[in-house]
Amino acid sequence: MWIARSKAELEQQLATSPRPVVLVPTMGALHPGHAALIDLARKHAGPDGAVLVSIFVNPIQFDKPADLEKYPRTEDADLIICRNHGADGVFIPDAEDMYFDNRSITVTETHLSKHLCGATRPGHFDGVCTVVLKLFNLTHCDAAVFGEKDFQQLAIIRRMVRDLDLRVQIIPHPTLREADGLAMSSRNRRLTPEQRADASRIREALTLAAQKPSPSEILVTAREIIEASKLTKIDYLAIVDEENLQPTEQITRPSILACAVFYGEVRLIDHIRIPKA
Ligand code: PAF
Repeated sequence: MWIARSKAELEQQLATSPRPVVLVPTMGALHPGHAALIDLARKHAGPDGAVLVSIFVNPIQFDKPADLEKYPRTEDADLIICRNHGADGVFIPDAEDMYFDNRSITVTETHLSKHLCGATRPGHFDGVCTVVLKLFNLTHCDAAVFGEKDFQQLAIIRRMVRDLDLRVQIIPHPTLREADGLAMSSRNRRLTPEQRADASRIREALTLAAQKPSPSEILVTAREIIEASKLTKIDYLAIVDEENLQPTEQITRPSILACAVFYGEVRLIDHIRIPKA
């Protein structure tokens, strides 16, 4: 498995790379959820194609400098996971190499990012789109794998691919969960043991609420279960259209119940599909 630490090194490695190239973009702190993304990339690349993992904690998608600073960095363990799951190469650039000091062009999303996570994290999805587009260009990838856990991110990246005519196939992977139902996330390791034990209520709340017959009952049920803990603070709880992510009061199209919940400073997200009435 090769490692490229700059754009120039990556270019050199890719000069002799077989196709297809399947990219798994990550910010490191890899956990079994990422390992599953690499496995899926391996499957799509086939025995002759190349699986490439990028590890880059992208500064321009963090709205709070403290979050960027606290983001876990576990490169040695990450590389072991990449190797064990059949990655052919890992791209680990630094921010100075990725971004020019006087850069002035950014991808801007103007619709899907206005609600949910985008509403409280200004500029976050523009930062995500910008780095993902750069990674697509730098790696010349044919396909890229993204987790469904970040379903707003996935919807926005699909929209970027559509709107900018990118020739990259987007491959989704279902959310991986811990035994108690908590969605796997690099952030889980920042929870205290008490918060971690409590956090399974998020999944429980969404699952029970999604069975209720009306949107108002769905929202009330989920809120009651999440707020029954004194450790939680709801950032948002909403029903949105699965494709355009706009809030909806009638469930006439495939819809999602989504939430972001704070445990102290740690913000966890999750969602569930709501069956059509
Ligand atoms: O989901 C992530 O880890 C990041 O948002 C991504 C897609 C790697 C872009 O930095």
